[in-house]
Amino acid sequence: MDICKTIDETRETIRKLKTEGKRIALVPTMGALHPGHLSLIRLGRRYADHVVVSIFVNPAQFGPNEDFDTYPRELEEDIKKCRKAEVSLVFAPDKDEIYDDESFFTIRINRMNEQMCGASRPGFFEGVMLIVNKLFNIITPDVAVFGQKDIQQFQMISRMIEEFNHDIELVMGSIHRANDGLALSSRNAYLSSEERTTAPGLYRALQYIEKQIKSGVHKTTLLIDHQKSELEAKGFKIDYINLFSLKTLQLAGTLQHNQKYILAGAVWLGKTRLIDNILIEL
Ligand code: PAJ
Repeated sequence: MDICKTIDETRETIRKLKTEGKRIALVPTMGALHPGHLSLIRLGRRYADHVVVSIFVNPAQFGPNEDFDTYPRELEEDIKKCRKAEVSLVFAPDKDEIYDDESFFTIRINRMNEQMCGASRPGFFEGVMLIVNKLFNIITPDVAVFGQKDIQQFQMISRMIEEFNHDIELVMGSIHRANDGLALSSRNAYLSSEERTTAPGLYRALQYIEKQIKSGVHKTTLLIDHQKSELEAKGFKIDYINLFSLKTLQLAGTLQHNQKYILAGAVWLGKTRLIDNILIEL
């Protein structure tokens, strides 16, 4: 397994990997790898001959009051996990390799970031789209694998690939969960043991709402409000829980048949922000 810190050596290694028509899958991450990340690596291998994992805590996607400084960094452990997962190349650049002190271009997003995490984390998705573009240009993968866990991110990348004409096949990995249903996340490391016990409540609330919708409840406001109150009573602070159109990422009104929706939630438990979602097709 190659470990590259610079763009030049990465490009050189990619050139070698790509010989004889070999296909490359990219799995972008911010490290602190957990079984969810590893499931994306396995998925990547089904679509390509080589899997490249990028590990970079991207400063551009953290707000001034967010957890950039405390975000878990475990590069040595991550490298071991990648080696075990038969990754071909780990790209783990320093910040200065990716960003100059000064930049003259920014990415602007229309509409797709008005709701969900886009609404509560200004600048977040601009930072994500910026780094993902850079990674696509550095690695030039045939396939890129991202998780449903960050569904808004996935949908935006899908649209961005189309609009920016990246010649990349996008693949979605399902949400890897702990036995009690909590979606795995590098940020779960922030949870105290008491919070960890409470945390699966978010997924349980989403599952309850999904069940009600599937059994015919199509006016969802009261249903969702009730679940929010239940979660608040358990100590969660609600950022949002709502239904959104999968395609436009806008709030869904009355649900219609043959449409795809995202039932998504973001909540705080102490200082930890948890997100989760369920795809709903009526
Ligand atoms: P990160 O949070 O490290 O996630 C990397 C990838 O793993 C994303 O595609 C995410 O959706 C996926 N993932 C996270 N938790 C998962 C789980 N429980 N099951 C399956 N997949 C999961 O998302 C980012 O990093 C960054 O925004 C990035 C795209 C790397 C840009 O900096």
